[in-house]
Amino acid sequence: MPPVDRFVPRFAAEPPQELLPYGRWADRLKAEFLAACARIDDGDDDEDLGETTGEISWYPDRTWNGRTYIPASIRTTENYELYGYVSYLPATEKGEEPSGFFSTADYTAEIAEANPDWQLDLCEEVIGGWRGEEGNVAAMTLVWGRPLVDRGAVVVAELADLPVDQCVVQEGRFTLIAPDAYRKDYLDIRLFDDRGTELACESLYEDDEDEEGGGRGLMDLETAVRTRRTHKAYGETPVDRATLEELFELATWAPNHHLTNPWRFRVLGPRSLARLKQAADAQIAGSGAKLDRAPTLVAVSYVTSPQDPVVDEEDLCSAAVAAYLVLLGAHARGLAGYWRTPAVLRIPQGRAALGMGEDERALGLLHLGEPRQEQRVPERAGLDVVARWLD
Ligand SMILES: Cc1cc2nc3c(=O)[nH]c(=O)nc-3n(C[C@H](O)[C@H](O)[C@H](O)COP(=O)(O)O)c2cc1C
Repeated sequence: MPPVDRFVPRFAAEPPQELLPYGRWADRLKAEFLAACARIDDGDDDEDLGETTGEISWYPDRTWNGRTYIPASIRTTENYELYGYVSYLPATEKGEEPSGFFSTADYTAEIAEANPDWQLDLCEEVIGGWRGEEGNVAAMTLVWGRPLVDRGAVVVAELADLPVDQCVVQEGRFTLIAPDAYRKDYLDIRLFDDRGTELACESLYEDDEDEEGGGRGLMDLETAVRTRRTHKAYGETPVDRATLEELFELATWAPNHHLTNPWRFRVLGPRSLARLKQAADAQIAGSGAKLDRAPTLVAVSYVTSPQDPVVDEEDLCSAAVAAYLVLLGAHARGLAGYWRTPAVLRIPQGRAALGMGEDERALGLLHLGEPRQEQRVPERAGLDVVARWLD
């Protein structure tokens, strides 16, 4: 065979190895998935999603890159669908238990019953990247769903006319793991009957507006400022160190009256996160779990100047601008962010957990990671409220 121009991983994920979860294993997965669901509507002003109702729908397991993914969905009393997955490191030796559980969930009001024209009910989450040639990166995407037409037997993921994954429909459900958004190509999900006749096709192509934050390409300044949103759900991949260093370096260009460089950034590691969670739980029971929402947490503080209240105020302002630059730069790189001011940062135990001295004041905990859901755009007041032209 001659060399090909377009090469991407094909059939990179193992086919399903198990029946859909049942019994004690289903209970274990259920606890993980419901915990992820509980983390969704946790924000101050999120929509009321209602309570989960009915049974969890499980989708076939797929294993890629050493992790097994089991997607799930469940309805709520307010007619939302909560969807996501539980992933874990499968046991490699006999008698060993699965470990390293991770779960994530999101919500949507777009449900199949309200969309009678749908032929496939699809969910997707990016679970990693595949670095191709010339700096191109494919989004390795978990796609799961249900055929809404009869006789569906096999589902194929196709990228630029190349089948890259397929899954037999199991109890009316399927799961795929395939490279997406690669060299401007997007996945098509095609449903076939058992004779190979195509019954339905759905594209995962996102329109330009959705794409703006993606691809890690930098967007123009005004677009970045307007489209940055506070996100509360993240993928599991931490932001890499090189990107964080870029963001902190960007932040140092915040205006700063006496060039005091007052800002300090602390990237939490597993032990500091555990200490902070412990301090949070001791302060407000259960509040530690909220610190698990994002894969990367950055505590931002500034070095105070108690001897000079004017400098202190100016440095507080500068450090706030620096924190915003981290969020804005992250957004311009396709990452999601959230500036949170948890109460634990205001108590000595919380500050001690992060090694923050008496001379520093915490401004917040920046949450960073891969975006998981579209965000509502909170309204801003008009210029009639916020601007005055003085004589
Ligand atoms: C200093 C600061 C502290 C914040 N702290 C919290 C917080 O503790 N909890 C929260 O839900 N949002 C917090 N936010 C995020 C705001 O709620 C969010 O910016 C606001 O709703 C506007 O949404 P947008 O960021 O998508 O434009 C904070 C924002 C700032 C600037």
